[in-house]
Amino acid sequence: MACRLVRATVIFAASWTLLVGLAQAGAIAVWNPDVYAPQVIMQDDASGIIFSSRCNSNGSTIFPNDVSSALDIDKRLLPRRKSRLAAVGWWSEDGDQWAAIQHQTKDNAIVHSLWMCNADGQFDSMGQWIISYITPGVRPNTGLASVILSRNAGFRVYYQDNNNSTCALSYSAIQGVWKYDGVVSHDGAQGSAISAAWTTPEDIHIARPRGEHEIEVARLHNNVTWELSTFPTPLENVTTLSNSSTLVKSLPSDSTNSTEFALNTTVDASWTLEAWDGNTTSIWYTIDSANKSSIFYIGTDALVHQVEQVGESWRMAPAQNASVWPPADSRNSELGATYSILTGEAWLYYMSGGHMVAAYRSSNSQWEDARVLGKSNVTTAELQSQGGLTLQAKIGVGVGIGLGVSAIAGFLLFVVLLRRRQARVDEEKWQASSAKGSSEDGSAESPSSAWGSNWPRSSDGSQSPVSVWIPEAHSRPVHELEEQVRTHELADQERISVAIPEKAAQH
Ligand SMILES: *[C@@H]1O[C@H](CO)[C@@H](O)[C@H](O)[C@H]1NC(C)=O
Ligand SMILES: *[C@@H]1O[C@H](CO)[C@@H](O)[C@H](O)[C@H]1NC(C)=O
Ligand SMILES: *[C@@H]1O[C@H](CO)[C@@H](O)[C@H](O)[C@H]1NC(C)=O
Ligand SMILES: *[C@@H]1O[C@H](CO)[C@@H](O)[C@H](O)[C@H]1NC(C)=O
Ligand SMILES: *[C@@H]1O[C@H](CO)[C@@H](O)[C@H](O)[C@H]1NC(C)=O
Ligand SMILES: *[C@@H]1O[C@H](CO)[C@@H](O)[C@H](O)[C@H]1NC(C)=O
Ligand SMILES: *[C@@H]1O[C@H](CO)[C@@H](O)[C@H](O)[C@H]1NC(C)=O
Ligand SMILES: *[C@@H]1O[C@H](CO)[C@@H](O)[C@H](O)[C@H]1NC(C)=O
Ligand SMILES: *[C@@H]1O[C@H](CO)[C@@H](O)[C@H](O)[C@H]1NC(C)=O
Ligand SMILES: *[C@@H]1O[C@H](CO)[C@@H](O)[C@H](O)[C@H]1NC(C)=O
Ligand SMILES: *[C@@H]1O[C@H](CO)[C@@H](O)[C@H](O)[C@H]1NC(C)=O
Ligand SMILES: *[C@@H]1O[C@H](CO)[C@@H](O)[C@H](O)[C@H]1NC(C)=O
Repeated sequence: MACRLVRATVIFAASWTLLVGLAQAGAIAVWNPDVYAPQVIMQDDASGIIFSSRCNSNGSTIFPNDVSSALDIDKRLLPRRKSRLAAVGWWSEDGDQWAAIQHQTKDNAIVHSLWMCNADGQFDSMGQWIISYITPGVRPNTGLASVILSRNAGFRVYYQDNNNSTCALSYSAIQGVWKYDGVVSHDGAQGSAISAAWTTPEDIHIARPRGEHEIEVARLHNNVTWELSTFPTPLENVTTLSNSSTLVKSLPSDSTNSTEFALNTTVDASWTLEAWDGNTTSIWYTIDSANKSSIFYIGTDALVHQVEQVGESWRMAPAQNASVWPPADSRNSELGATYSILTGEAWLYYMSGGHMVAAYRSSNSQWEDARVLGKSNVTTAELQSQGGLTLQAKIGVGVGIGLGVSAIAGFLLFVVLLRRRQARVDEEKWQASSAKGSSEDGSAESPSSAWGSNWPRSSDGSQSPVSVWIPEAHSRPVHELEEQVRTHELADQERISVAIPEKAAQH
C-alpha cells in the first residue's frame, strides 16, 4: 500500500517535472519604449524562434506567442537554442518605434540587431551585425544585458567571456563602430543571468548571480572603474598599491585578479536570498524614481522575489500575493522586466499557467493585480468588454514624458543617419533579391514557410554551421555581406582583430 503510494507519487512527480519542463519558455526580454505599452520578446524553447509582441499595441501589450510575430533573423545569424536575450527600445522624434535586440548564435557570436515597428505591428529588420569578433571570445550560453544611454553615449552590451568574467562592448554614433571595453568583473564564480540598469551614462549598475548564496553588483565609479560588491555576504576588500606606493584596502574592482575575490565570512549578513540556489535563469535590475534599486528573480519555489536597496545595503522586499505575482510555471524560470526611472513604474513579464502575464507596479509604488497578455486585438476587445483590462490600459499610457523626450531628441540625428543608410541598404537588398529572383530575407506574410526547413533542427547546437563568414566592417549589416570564408580563415581574422582592436575598429 505504502509502496504503491510512493510509486504513484514518483510517477506523478516525474510527469509533473516533464510537463513543467515542456512548458518552459526560453529567454524573455522586455523594454519600455515610453509611449505605447512595453514590448516583450521570448525565444520559443522548441524551435529557437524569437517571438515578439505587436509593437503597435496601444495601452496593453499584445503578445501572440506564435510565428505570426517571429523576428526575421538572418539565416546566418540564427539564435542558438536557449540563447539569452537583451533588448532596448525607443521612439524617434518622427514617430517611429525602434528596438535593439541582442542574441547569441550557435557559434557563440553576439548579434546586435535593429528593428523598426511597421504599421502592421511587426518589427522590420534594420540591420543585424555580429559585434563580438573584436573581443577575446564569448562563453557559450553567455548572459546578455544591454542599455541605451543616449545618442552620444550610445549602447552598452554586457556578456561573459570564457573565464566567466563580465565584459563590455560599446557603440555610439560618435564612435561609429563597436568597441571592446574590456572586463567589468574578473570574478568568475558566477551563473549566466545578468542585468543592467542606469540613472545617468556615468552611473550604470550591473547585477549577476554569484553562486549559491550571493548576487554581485558592479557599479561604474568616477566614470572610469567598476566597483564590485556582493550581498548578503560582502566581498573582502582587496589590497592595492596607491599612488604614493602605499598599500590601501579598497573594494574589489574591474582590475581585481580573479584569484583575489573572497567573501568576507566574518560578516554576519543576518538575511539570505529567498528561494535562491544561484541557478535562476534571469535576474532583472530596476531603478525607481527615487533612485532605489531592485532586483527581481524567480526562485526555486517558482515565485517572484524582489531584493531592494536601502541606503547602502540590500534586503528582501515583502512578497506580494498570488494575484499580484502569480506563480511561474517552473522553478528558477525565465523573467523579463522593465522600468521607468521617471515614474517608478515596473513591469515583470513571465509565463504563468501557460500564458504570458504582466505584473505591474504603479508610479505610487503600489503593485496591482497581474494580467494575462492578450494574444490579439480580438482577445483585447473581449477582455475590454469584460472590464478586464484596467491594469494594461494603464500600462504604457502617459509614461516617460521627460526622459523619453530628451533621449528621443538626442537620438534623432542618430536615427536619421541610420535611416539614410537603411534606404541604401534596402535598395541594394531589393536589387539583389530581384536579380536573383529569390526572397532571401524571408517574409512577414508567410513566416512559417519562410522559417520552415531553414531553421536548425539540432537541439544541442553541436552541428557545424551552414556557412562560416565574417563581416568586413563593424558597421555593415549582415545582409550587405557576401564574402564567405572557411573556418581557419575566420580564426586568422579573429586573431588579427584581437591583436589590433584599434586598427580593426577604424575600418
Ligand atoms: C492610444 O490610445 C489612447 C486612448 O486609449 C488614445 O488617446 C491615443 O490616441 C492612442 N494613440 C495612438 C497613437 O493611437
Ligand atoms: C582567462 O584567464 C586567464 C588567466 O587569468 C588569462 O590568461 C586569459 O587571457 C583569460 N581569458 C580571457 C578570454 O580573458
Ligand atoms: C563558468 O560558469 C559555468 C556555469 O555557470 C561553469 O560551468 C564553467 O565551468 C565556468 N567556467 C569557468 C572557466 O569558470
Ligand atoms: C565618461 O566616460 C566616457 C568615455 O569613457 C566619456 O565619453 C564621457 O565624456 C565621460 N563622462 C564624463 C561626465 O566625464
Ligand atoms: C571583513 O568584515 C569585517 C567586519 O565588517 C571587517 O572588520 C574586516 O576588515 C573585513 N575584512 C576584509 C578583508 O575586508
Ligand atoms: C594620484 O595621483 C594623481 C596625479 O598624479 C592625483 O591627481 C591623485 O589625487 C592621486 N590619488 C591619490 C589617491 O593619491
Ligand atoms: C573597503 O574599502 C572601502 C573603500 O574603498 C571602504 O569604504 C570600506 O569601509 C572598506 N571595507 C572594509 C570592510 O574594510
Ligand atoms: C592572478 O593571480 C595569479 C596568482 O597570484 C597569477 O598567477 C596571475 O598571473 C594573476 N593574473 C593576472 C591577470 O594578474
Ligand atoms: C546549479 O547548477 C549547477 C551547474 O549546472 C549544478 O551543479 C548545481 O547542482 C545546481 N544547484 C542546485 C541547487 O540545483
Ligand atoms: C539619481 O542618481 C543620479 C546619479 O548618481 C543623479 O544624477 C540623480 O540626481 C539621482 N536622482 C535622484 C532622484 O536622486
Ligand atoms: C493582493 O495585494 C494587492 C496589493 O498589495 C491588493 O490590492 C489585493 O487586494 C491583494 N489581493 C488579495 C487576494 O489578497
Ligand atoms: C489592432 O487594432 C488597431 C485598430 O483597429 C490596428 O490599428 C492595429 O493594427 C491592430 N493591432 C494588431 C496587433 O492587430
